[in-house]
Amino acid sequence: MNNPAFADRISDVPKSFIREILKVAVNPEMISFAGGLPNRDLFPVKELQNASNQVFETAGKEALQYSNSEGYLPLREFIAKRYADKAGLKVSPDNILITCGSQQGLDLLAKIILNEGDDVLIEEPGYLGAIQVFSVYRSTFVPIPLLDDGLDAKALTTALQSYRPKLLYTVPNFSNPSGITYSLEKRREIAAIIEGYATILVEDNPYGDLRYRGEDIPSFKHFLPEQTILLGSFSKTAVPGFRIGWIVAPDAIMDKLIVAKQAADLHTNIFTQRLLYQYLSDNDLEAHIRKIREVYGRQGRAMIESIRKHFPSDVHFTTPDGGMFLWVTLPPQVSSMKLFDLAIKRNVAFVPGNPFYTYPVENINTLRLNFSCVDEKTIEVGIAKLGEAIKELLGN
Ligand SMILES: Cc1ncc(COP(=O)(O)O)c(C=O)c1O
Repeated sequence: MNNPAFADRISDVPKSFIREILKVAVNPEMISFAGGLPNRDLFPVKELQNASNQVFETAGKEALQYSNSEGYLPLREFIAKRYADKAGLKVSPDNILITCGSQQGLDLLAKIILNEGDDVLIEEPGYLGAIQVFSVYRSTFVPIPLLDDGLDAKALTTALQSYRPKLLYTVPNFSNPSGITYSLEKRREIAAIIEGYATILVEDNPYGDLRYRGEDIPSFKHFLPEQTILLGSFSKTAVPGFRIGWIVAPDAIMDKLIVAKQAADLHTNIFTQRLLYQYLSDNDLEAHIRKIREVYGRQGRAMIESIRKHFPSDVHFTTPDGGMFLWVTLPPQVSSMKLFDLAIKRNVAFVPGNPFYTYPVENINTLRLNFSCVDEKTIEVGIAKLGEAIKELLGN
């Protein structure tokens, strides 16, 4: 059969750039800083197996039946309590919808809010999965540059005056791809700027628990309680394969989200919701997160030390306080795609900056490095090779 006439909403969405470029990076010798995955060696496999047995034994039939669209109530209560304990936020379980990963939360939100052509403010560089979702709903992107302490407030002010954005999408803690965290002052400033506009601030926070340095910084919801929507996830603190995330929204938005959730998939897999809840009841999530933070923290520090040692001094990079990524800016004349070709020959992979922009970029000089899945020794070897490749491109 010839290709069917695809809908416009999907025809315009670019293929996964990362998947395409990484087809060349399958060599087992490859040191990969390209992935975006949590470290699988830290998955609590045994504990989840025990929890699974427990669910089968105590609630097998309920756990295998259809369930409600909002999500398993004890799990929503667990999430609400954690917001209170960890972030000082008062969130009712009624305002939490369990989704198939926070990615689905983003999709449902876009589905109920965005008409074709609606303006969306987004960080530059921005999370690829958000760019993809907003592209499907055919929104118009207004990128706002990320500075070291968060969004460029001047650019945000101008954008709010020039456009009519329905959403401002942010990842304020250890952002993907940049590793940047918004300072407290910047959060206050952004909240003050956006207050009064009919723009919803989306705080996507899958990495917030993975802080390995410094103090937690209050959520935007403290400053803009009615205008902020939170997205959360167990992907980085427990396991990504369960696909369990959530969205926190005010009542009126929650009603629409539930309709959209029903239309999409009726409800999130109830067996895995119960299994995860059983795991959370029988184990100490905070102790598990401490373990993850310790490993990622060591690896993140090793990457920064290696970069300092092996990259030329005119290469800039972020020094994240948590999360899984850092962002490198090469001298302006150096294309990260060209560097990618050279690095692959040396068996090192990373993601060139291209897919993190909302428009086609050529010869962009930025790139993302992931440190969650590579041990410290291998990080040093890989970064040294990358440093050699950069020097070769610079003609040093
Ligand atoms: C910023 C950001 N938001 C959302 C997601 C999606 O996470 P989930 O597994 O909860 O769908 C990711 C995954 O990498 C992410 O980096």
